[in-house]
Amino acid sequence: MLTIPFAGTAIACGVALVVAACGNGSEISSSPAPVDADASANSRAAALVAQMTTAEKVQLVHGVGIPNAGLGGPYPAGVAGAGYIPGISRLGIPGIAMADSAGGVNVVNSNATALPAPVALAASWDPALANAYGARIATELRVLGYGEGLGGGVNLAREPRNGRTFEYMGEDPVLTGTMSAARTIGTQAQKVIATIKHYAMNDQETNRMTSNSVVDERTMRETELLAFELGVTQGLPGSVMCSYNLVNGVYACENPYLLTTVLKNEWGFKGVVQSDWTATHSTVAAALAGLDEEEPGDVSGGASIPGFTLTSYFNSKLADAVNAGSVPMARLNDMVERKLRTMIRWGVFDAPPTPGGAVDQSAGNALALQVAQQSSVLLKNAVAGGDTQPVLPLNAARLSSIVVIGGHADAGVLSGGGSGAVPAAAGNAVSGCVSASPLLSTCATWYKSAPLAAIEAKAPNATVTFLDGTNPAAAATAAAKADVAIVFATQWETEGADLPSLSLPSNTTDTFNQSYDQNALITAVAAQAKRVIVVLENGSPVLMPWLGNVHGVLESWYPGVQGGQAIADLLFGDVNPSGKLPITFPVQDSDLPQQTISATDTAVTYSEGLLMGYRWYDGKQIAPLFPFGHGLSYTSYSYSGLNAHADGSGNVTVTFSVRNTGSRAGSEIAEVYAALPAGLGEPPKRLVGWQKVALQPGQSQQVSVSIAPKLLSTWDATAHAWKLNNGAYQLIAGASSRDPNALSASVTIAGH
Ligand code: BGC
Repeated sequence: MLTIPFAGTAIACGVALVVAACGNGSEISSSPAPVDADASANSRAAALVAQMTTAEKVQLVHGVGIPNAGLGGPYPAGVAGAGYIPGISRLGIPGIAMADSAGGVNVVNSNATALPAPVALAASWDPALANAYGARIATELRVLGYGEGLGGGVNLAREPRNGRTFEYMGEDPVLTGTMSAARTIGTQAQKVIATIKHYAMNDQETNRMTSNSVVDERTMRETELLAFELGVTQGLPGSVMCSYNLVNGVYACENPYLLTTVLKNEWGFKGVVQSDWTATHSTVAAALAGLDEEEPGDVSGGASIPGFTLTSYFNSKLADAVNAGSVPMARLNDMVERKLRTMIRWGVFDAPPTPGGAVDQSAGNALALQVAQQSSVLLKNAVAGGDTQPVLPLNAARLSSIVVIGGHADAGVLSGGGSGAVPAAAGNAVSGCVSASPLLSTCATWYKSAPLAAIEAKAPNATVTFLDGTNPAAAATAAAKADVAIVFATQWETEGADLPSLSLPSNTTDTFNQSYDQNALITAVAAQAKRVIVVLENGSPVLMPWLGNVHGVLESWYPGVQGGQAIADLLFGDVNPSGKLPITFPVQDSDLPQQTISATDTAVTYSEGLLMGYRWYDGKQIAPLFPFGHGLSYTSYSYSGLNAHADGSGNVTVTFSVRNTGSRAGSEIAEVYAALPAGLGEPPKRLVGWQKVALQPGQSQQVSVSIAPKLLSTWDATAHAWKLNNGAYQLIAGASSRDPNALSASVTIAGH
């Protein structure tokens, strides 16, 4: 049995813990790695490289195509997935198979568990859960024959209409970096190499292979690169995937600043820089910039797969460049040594996985349920006219009729698309799709975890009716007669395309998956229902023009294979909601920093600078619909007694008490923000830590959050270094980024 010192939700592992104590992969392992694990991996890798021919070395730095494309290739029986690098049997080097694994293993017919999407995981704010998430996916990867998981997206939600928002973990660098590190540690403890991606500034899908992110150094370092920095330095992933786009005019996969100056030299990354699939554009420039592995690569000469032309820069062209001296042998040796030391260090060299094992679906389902319960966010819970209590939780004993409307709630729960999708296990998919392309599908999948059935089971004495939402007038009439109406609303998104708007998709904006106008449906139902609750299944924020007319809103993201059960558990109060938003929900699209996503202008200019996510709304004084960090509970909490203390090195400790002032047990995510001294050009505040505390009714707990100096620093673009500035810092503790009752205290830091 795996030993995870901070496993379970009872023991909080806040950001300070991750940075200080949860960051060493060897601490979270069934058999602690020997102290010299790094040195031993390095020397074994170097000894192997010394015995290899140039051809053998080149073989290890590129893939041989896409196994799951079904075109055949030199793949062992049973290996599908996204990539494969053959081994070298003469030297005992095993091959390595890779599979996408954003929220579960993306291999068809594998019966892998579809966990809630990564954005949901982020909403739990629970690094222990992220560790378990990474471990679960790795266990399934390994049993299916994969030694490397291509999950772990950490791009920040600069543009929330990004079609991959569900694969990422929101808009804050510290939350994302912390959760990424915990996930990576969980994965690699199971002897599977973790990838984090897409490095970097790959924040929208429109023109994703040609767009150029134009962004200044300070902005990069304080926003998205900080998420990667925490993920890399605390999680120690074996692989970092460089992205398709250009950054300041240079392709990310041949960008010496990103790959060598920052990642390898400054952060000390010892693993492999792997290109996104066809993101390699050169041989010499890429190799010299720091790219270590071309994916998917090819066997010879390139092959055509819909959506991809396979590139081949690290195959014979790399051998030629090394022979000609334009890529030094020392660089090739470094690439190979990185590959081998990573395989040795994380256990796939000495214990290579073999395909053909069976996934433990009941273990997978148990974690999927737990994550869905912990990550759903109660956004609104108001008292309906004539009632004395908020609409939620539902009390089955007092309900004689419930009407459930729309969102295929009779069939299942929605999932996202693209390489971050998890194919449904055998017999578990429902699709209302019109057509699909082979690689990047336009077709949404609903897993057969029907909220309707779970709601019926919670209220056996009530009449539960389902209407599919295609007839808003009929739905409204039924809602008027019922004790409560629950409307399910969905927003499908996928890799390869951005959302046209954060507005709930309709039959005109998502012709593949929607057959009616969801906003019109909710408005019609809300006009007549006595009590109305909206349950959202989505990857990005959604606009809610009807918010003032509904009583409850439950955000369940893409909730995975146990989503229907989790939603019912939360609606009926068997589980008390505890998730909080990892991303701001704006009132309207025009409140976003980027007004439109240009289809033609490939320059994506980060003109908002440091004002990413909630920093934008705070800096511009725009009221969001729901702020970053917001989330309600069926109990209530109060905060008191804030103290902040700084030591001579700029380490700050914040302590305060959180009390459960209501009548139900619950878990509160207590958030700590810092406002830096005036005059530094910083946004009004930034998240610097948090702790999730489980409290019985009436119980109070002292919270202590330690904040490392880096999290209070600014990036000095002249010195190219973090700078801790002199001055007075406000530390703010509260229930969200805009808690009117937040406590605050000031500390003075002597900068250096
Ligand atoms: C995606 C990556 C993915 C790769 C392999 C690319 O198109 O951007 O996230 O890992 O395909 O499927």
